[in-house]
Amino acid sequence: MSHPDAGSSSAVVSHYAATSLRTQIGDALKQTGLTGNNDLIYWKDLAPLDEFHVRGLAATEELAAELQIAPEATILDVGSGLGGPSRFLAATYGAHVTGIDLSPSFVDSATMLSERTGLAHRTTFRVADALALPFEDLSFDHAWTQHVAMNIHDRARLYSEIFRVLKPGGLFAIYDVIGGNGEPLIFPVPWAREPAISFLLTSEALRDVLSATGFDVVSWTDTTAIANEWIARQQDARSRAPSSPAIGLHLITPPDFPIMMANLGRNLVEGRARMLQAILKRPA
Ligand SMILES: C[S@@+](CC[C@H](N)C(=O)[O-])C[C@H]1O[C@@H](n2cnc3c(N)ncnc32)[C@H](O)[C@@H]1O
Repeated sequence: MSHPDAGSSSAVVSHYAATSLRTQIGDALKQTGLTGNNDLIYWKDLAPLDEFHVRGLAATEELAAELQIAPEATILDVGSGLGGPSRFLAATYGAHVTGIDLSPSFVDSATMLSERTGLAHRTTFRVADALALPFEDLSFDHAWTQHVAMNIHDRARLYSEIFRVLKPGGLFAIYDVIGGNGEPLIFPVPWAREPAISFLLTSEALRDVLSATGFDVVSWTDTTAIANEWIARQQDARSRAPSSPAIGLHLITPPDFPIMMANLGRNLVEGRARMLQAILKRPA
């Protein structure tokens, strides 16, 4: 069935598309010597590649600490990318994580990386649209999304799908770029080359749509300042050592990705965009 975001879904897939990603990542892993006992890779060693958001693993750890995840909890990771956060949740908390993503090459590589890290029994990835989640109502203890909603126009539908599949009392963790002072964004940014697939909501508008969906706000934290520091440090490190490590985001991003990150930094510094970390609850 078609929906208002259908046109932009294929544009989002193309934005993140990479050919033979599994092979490319597999070759890079061979070069690193990361493979240890029984040919397994330690999941944490993949963080420079598979934590595809500002502040990487540190941001994931902070968000997860707010969720109070019980062993064997079921978690839906919406827009799971290469699956780094899903593997973190599985390895650290003993959770069972299901990741969905629009991009078949990301889902394929996420599955391969879970096999290579020995976490395939706790993580599953499948191709799906966040706007039409292929799950029964009340399926998950928690839901989780990082750096995905910026590409999604129909937020009411996104959040009502997540609400639908959460169990009553379930928590929903968000880490996203949001709108700022109303000044237009400087493009390209990491999630979009042009405004046609970028849909940031201001903090107030986002709270309104989440409340209208039925969520209660548990916490709402503006993390713009710490994001700014991280981006500045990354840029500084890059200027000192311009060559890329074997494993890193350059494997899944276009050559001008550093410009996209620099623009994100500028958008944040100038107040055009902000960073948000939030926990929502489906009332019991
Ligand atoms: C910047 S990456 C973040 C990946 C992962 N959440 C992380 O933080 O490592 C954004 C991901 O969202 C996915 N995405 C964008 N729109 C989506 C949608 N409507 N449904 C499912 N996935 C989507 C993209 O394919 C991409 O993998």
